[in-house]
Amino acid sequence: MASGQPQSQGAAASSRGIQVKLVLLGESAVGKSSLVVRFVQNDFQENKEPTIGAAFLTQKCRLEDKVIKFEIWDTAGQERFHSLAPMYYRNAAAAIVVYDVTKASSLEKAKSWVKELQRQANSNIVIAFVGNKIDLVADSPAAKSTSGDSTTSDDDEEDEADDATATPEDAAAEQTSSNSSKRQVSKEEAEEYAKETGLLFAETSAKTGDGVVEVFTEIAKAIPIDQLLANSRANQRGRAGAASRAAAAGDSNRVDLTSGPTKQDGCAC
Ligand code: GTP
Ligand code: MG
Repeated sequence: MASGQPQSQGAAASSRGIQVKLVLLGESAVGKSSLVVRFVQNDFQENKEPTIGAAFLTQKCRLEDKVIKFEIWDTAGQERFHSLAPMYYRNAAAAIVVYDVTKASSLEKAKSWVKELQRQANSNIVIAFVGNKIDLVADSPAAKSTSGDSTTSDDDEEDEADDATATPEDAAAEQTSSNSSKRQVSKEEAEEYAKETGLLFAETSAKTGDGVVEVFTEIAKAIPIDQLLANSRANQRGRAGAASRAAAAGDSNRVDLTSGPTKQDGCAC
């Protein structure tokens, strides 16, 4: 069960795997909680309510030779919670900064989170820059697969007789065009920014699951586990006192731990 406060170490070894603290940041409604729910519970809710404070969940990720246990802090994107964020990204080994591919302003907000992390988080933090909701845009694999029925051949004429003014091809073309116009952040632009800034990059859909496990797997691979564990061991004694002071000073009301199961034994990766 969560302690109600973020752990003070970015990574730590235990019999249940190597614990890695990961934080999600981004504008409200970009889909941070939905990405976590997809990763941890393989589920999606159409109308998910905004997070209050933060939520804590865990999930394991198995790499070839080790098991990473992500301790995930899903922060609230509403501006009124911004000042709480340092408490969650402090000493995090990894961060996922999320924007919504259908909302240009969310990209700017995501960039400002990256700047804040670069100024104030661990210098070796692994950051993934993630454009979510690609199911809403036509050029995503998810959108392509959901419109797969439109490839029906011209031989199927009996159904088309019902609607002489709009063929399935017309409807598909119209849908594709309206979905394309929903995209406000091009993949190339965001990918270029991520490359220049030294971030991992992915586009995802929490709704369909596209790209979600892959993001966490790439992060798990990129984290300098051995280095983090060495630092962790070296600092363990000094940190024990600081951790208990931080726990005593914290306000557990800020953390929403009521948003469903927080643990899952299986590995997602
Ligand atoms: P805050 O907690 O306020 O910071 O928001 P959030 O970033 O956690 O967003 P949340 O996961 O609550 O999602 C906001 C809305 O977007 C919800 O209604 C979700 O169902 C929807 N949503 C999230 N991800 C996707 C996605 O990949 N595709 C689509 N179509 N909708 C999504
Ligand atoms: Mg949320």
